[in-house]
Amino acid sequence: MFNQFFFVLVLLSTMASCTGAKSAQVVSANHVLHPVDSLLNLMTIEEKIGQMSIFTSGGDITGATLRDTYKEDIRKGRIGAVFSAHSVRFTRQLQKLAVENSRLGIPLLFGYDVIHGYKTIMPIPLGGAASWDLAAIQQASRIAAIESSAAGLHWTFAPMVDVARDPRWGRISEGAGEDALYGSLVAEARVKGFQGSDLTQNNTILACAKHFAAYGAAQAGRDYHTVDVSERTLREVYLPPFKSATEAGVRTFMTAFNELDGVPATGNSFLLKDILRKEWGFDGMVVTDYTSINEMVHHGVAATDKEAGELALNAGVDMDMQGAVFYDHLQKSLTEGKVRIEQINQAVRHILLMKYELGLFEDPFKYCNKKREEQYVFSKEHRQFARTLAQKSIVLLKNEKGILPLPQNAKKKVAVIGPFFDSEKDMLGSWSAAGRAEDCVTLKQGLLQAGSALEFSFAKGCAPYGGDQSNFAQAQKIASQADYIVLYLGETRGMSGEAASRSDIGLPGHQSALAKMCKKLGKPLIVILANGRPLTIPWLAEHVDAIVETWFLGTEAGNAIADVLLGKYNPSGRLPVTFPRRVGQIPIFYNMKNTGRPYEANNKFTSKYLDTPNTPLYPFGFGLSYTPFKYGSIKLKQPFLSKDMPLDVSITIENTGSQEGTETVQLYIRDLVASVTRPVKELKAFQQVVLKKGERKEVHFTLSEKDLMFFDKKMNWVVEPGEFELFIGANAQTSRKVLFTFR
Ligand code: GLC
Repeated sequence: MFNQFFFVLVLLSTMASCTGAKSAQVVSANHVLHPVDSLLNLMTIEEKIGQMSIFTSGGDITGATLRDTYKEDIRKGRIGAVFSAHSVRFTRQLQKLAVENSRLGIPLLFGYDVIHGYKTIMPIPLGGAASWDLAAIQQASRIAAIESSAAGLHWTFAPMVDVARDPRWGRISEGAGEDALYGSLVAEARVKGFQGSDLTQNNTILACAKHFAAYGAAQAGRDYHTVDVSERTLREVYLPPFKSATEAGVRTFMTAFNELDGVPATGNSFLLKDILRKEWGFDGMVVTDYTSINEMVHHGVAATDKEAGELALNAGVDMDMQGAVFYDHLQKSLTEGKVRIEQINQAVRHILLMKYELGLFEDPFKYCNKKREEQYVFSKEHRQFARTLAQKSIVLLKNEKGILPLPQNAKKKVAVIGPFFDSEKDMLGSWSAAGRAEDCVTLKQGLLQAGSALEFSFAKGCAPYGGDQSNFAQAQKIASQADYIVLYLGETRGMSGEAASRSDIGLPGHQSALAKMCKKLGKPLIVILANGRPLTIPWLAEHVDAIVETWFLGTEAGNAIADVLLGKYNPSGRLPVTFPRRVGQIPIFYNMKNTGRPYEANNKFTSKYLDTPNTPLYPFGFGLSYTPFKYGSIKLKQPFLSKDMPLDVSITIENTGSQEGTETVQLYIRDLVASVTRPVKELKAFQQVVLKKGERKEVHFTLSEKDLMFFDKKMNWVVEPGEFELFIGANAQTSRKVLFTFR
């Protein structure tokens, strides 16, 4: 059958050459239609609705339904995109089905959850965020885009930019932690990494800001649970990273599963139209999360899938992921007048624009190059970078008497105990795309191939959870013969990520008993943590000599951890999220409000607990180094800031230790009196400085009025005159401060 694709191709490429318009507006100035509108005018209603549906190829299932008819749908032009299909071979096969069989031959979009790497797996996003190295975070996303595009993919469902203040929520592992500003900077870096500077290049992919919005505020940290936050909290905490992603040019958004103040995000026009389109000017495409349209029936705002579909389209959704609601019901809704053709046209326009911006109409197979796939996927250079970012993501939480690094040139015995030292799959963390467990370097491999003089022995001691204590004896045996004990404890990869909330975030199973058994031996005791969330580890914090937070570091995990343990890399990571002492303190985060009865040790009637301090175990921004840093006093060029007079701030940092190290100098402010209550601290800037031993450096910051702005009672974005405290230090608990005035 003569397929109109070639006619359409000629039409589009002709049009494309004479408009060059990027946005999908009808170009009325010279009365020439945008190519996307030209194509839209050729489409039947079935073909239009087809573009508004995405189904999984069956690769990774993350929800209830799986359609096995998608190949037939592609032939009939009744599907616009496929996700979890990857590799040049498979995507080429499916693209040929679409381009050569459907009437108009509109190319498919291929999406996938490339969250922290395609095949070269980087640290989980929360771990990468602990590097506080925005350039490295951007490069990690750039590498993920290079590899996934070489494997035929056009679109990643990342970055996840949900601010998370509740570590019971498993998806805290997928984001950048608890702070809106830092989350915004990471969102920008990751969008720029995935999309690069030119989406028509075949090594750039569409990014997707998700999950819009406030998914991280799920009540009780229980995944998919209700979200009920004030507009103030929404705008001050949860929206900024999405706004930052928009300003960075992100081309797609994904709606969240949760309701927001009574309206499910997938049917929420306040979010999808008022904020996203009108306030922020977003002109890209909105896809739902997996069957989140259908789930509006469970939410209780629609009696049927068909009604839910009408809610979603009327709210501003363009594409239905996996739910087949538009696929099954939208034509009837149109016939009944429940939706308008203009809404369908607008949705299809947004979708076709993505394909147009990627250059797929000119060459649907531009991402299907076998040679590129062989050259770039899992390359040596990518793995070298993965090791670098993994090193930077490691946070040293405790190091009593400088027990670390281990004396790599000494003939000492090191017993490595715990359930994770040879677990390849757990190094991947959640959402590991095409990453393979067998490609991961374990801690055992990393230590043995590091070339030290140390003599290592290994014993699990116990399983990650469940099981019994029958292997304690073997662990005790090697520990009693060793000079050092390294305990590798924590969570499996499956205990964080989606649908992995925990009501108790302590060490699972018999791991605490294993640690106490080792402690009794009176040897230097070092704990390595494998985890996708903060853990409540007060006993470890009090009784072991060193604690090394390693999250899930990906393909090069074992090498990076060995590099830190053996002193080949001086740890520089800082926490992007607060570690509570106990789960009962949650939600606990650094930028809390002061309350009317702030904590007083000797006053019962102040805001506190009977059974635990208010302070966290480890604060936001915290991390140690193998070298100490000394902070000088804060200097202000003038003691005030005004609309026309920014405030220059400086401080001297000195490396007073014996080796080079990296310090992340953090600047916080506090607005002492305002028309609404303000947090006791707000991160406003940070700088990483690398200092050689004995080196001093003056670090400069500049604050302007925009750094002092907030939403007033009427939700206007304002700055008010008054006094501010300015803090500079190594974490959110710093007390080093000066005063300045905004006038
Ligand atoms: C999931 C997740 C979302 C992911 C999507 C596709 O349920 O919520 O983050 O991108 O489905 O796998």
